[in-house]
Amino acid sequence: MSNRMWGGRFASGPAEIMEEINASIGFDKRLAPQDIRGSLAHVAMLGTSGVLPAADVDAITAGLKSVQAEIEAGTFAFRRELEDIHMNVESRLTEIVGPAAGRLHTARSRNDQVATDMKLWVRDTLDGLDAQAAALQQALAEKALRHAGTVMPGFTHLQSAQPVTFGHHMMAYVEMLGRDRGRFRDARARLNECPLGAAALAGTGFPIDRHATAAALGFDRPTANSLDSVADRDFALEALSAASICAVHLSRFAEELVVWTSAQFGFVRLSDGYTTGSSIMPQKRNPDAAELVRAKAGRIVGALTGLLIVMKGLPLAYSKDMQEDKEGTFDALQALSLCLAAMTGMVRDLEPVAETLAKAAGSGYATATDLADWLVRELNLPFREAHHVTGRLVGAASAKGVGLEALSLEEMQAAEPRITDAVYAVLGVENSVASRISYGGTAPGNVRAQAERWLAQLSGG
Ligand code: ARG
Repeated sequence: MSNRMWGGRFASGPAEIMEEINASIGFDKRLAPQDIRGSLAHVAMLGTSGVLPAADVDAITAGLKSVQAEIEAGTFAFRRELEDIHMNVESRLTEIVGPAAGRLHTARSRNDQVATDMKLWVRDTLDGLDAQAAALQQALAEKALRHAGTVMPGFTHLQSAQPVTFGHHMMAYVEMLGRDRGRFRDARARLNECPLGAAALAGTGFPIDRHATAAALGFDRPTANSLDSVADRDFALEALSAASICAVHLSRFAEELVVWTSAQFGFVRLSDGYTTGSSIMPQKRNPDAAELVRAKAGRIVGALTGLLIVMKGLPLAYSKDMQEDKEGTFDALQALSLCLAAMTGMVRDLEPVAETLAKAAGSGYATATDLADWLVRELNLPFREAHHVTGRLVGAASAKGVGLEALSLEEMQAAEPRITDAVYAVLGVENSVASRISYGGTAPGNVRAQAERWLAQLSGG
């Protein structure tokens, strides 16, 4: 049998394998709520614009609501031979309403319909991701407030650099997530133009009111060019780009959690709720959730690059290639949602191990910069010379296998005779972090103020 929606000029139906490669219903059925919402707005507008009589509008509206109820109840029979969600809905509408259902597709095409449906889905999803990222920021800022003064090693090149606080480290991710949320919002604002009514590609001769459908669907305005309306998926690409950057942030944090929870580091404890055991090694507490957050960044970035490559060679306007936007976009944005939820749970439950962190913070000559700064401040040495003197002292301590604080005053004075025993105060990690009071620095007071600022902002919406 030829297709009942477009089969007018076809003598026979598609080959089995054609149906399989062509059908998108297996994955675009999730667009049913958006599709019906779009159709309800479209048919209402056809009524007010005088394109359809009220009786048809009423019948189609009631029919669409029945279809919606069937889909929500799980009684709707999705059919692959009807290709996609748009034709599945319309076909069932025809069974319910009769021939009047055929008038719904006046002044529209599946091309503007699918672009509208996808934009609605991406828009809702971005809103959800924004809220989830805010919840993670809140968990991080609360943890930061509690551990504003918990000293830990700060690294560059994964080598001990300077002591920081655990709260400061958590707040770094709060800032990253703040920018991620900004990107979600920017993407949302840019996508919020309605393609509906662009029809197949050229617009329509019917006296439709695109401003009305745009407003009814919560868009800021209709898209201004009918070709662009149906030909681009940059809104999905932009959402995937923002999602990829956020996923990379989460992945880096996840990597840190994996390293920090190892026996060799022992910096933090994850709760039982976010770790798993081993079937053979009884001692194990594996950070699986963190590992999976780290891994899911791969498929999220993969969805972005996949869709970029799908789009890169397509002439205007619609090509069926664009149907490939869906699975990757759905999968990636859902994966990010799961990552944000898992991270929020992990952060709420995790506990830093203060003694281990403090000990690690003091190892690796992490207060060498504090010593150099002291030489500049107290002895007025140029920083480069202070760096040199400190380097000699680190060398001396390292040769003895001890920390800087274990060098005697005589040993210190061998490198620079004017050093006094006041120097020992700056060699402690607590003093080191307390001294970092520059704006954005790791001093506990700063960290507390930043955490409080964010918490106030987050609770203000
Ligand atoms: N299932 C299609 C998609 O996702 C809908 C648009 C079909 N349009 C067309 N001209 N065949 O892209």
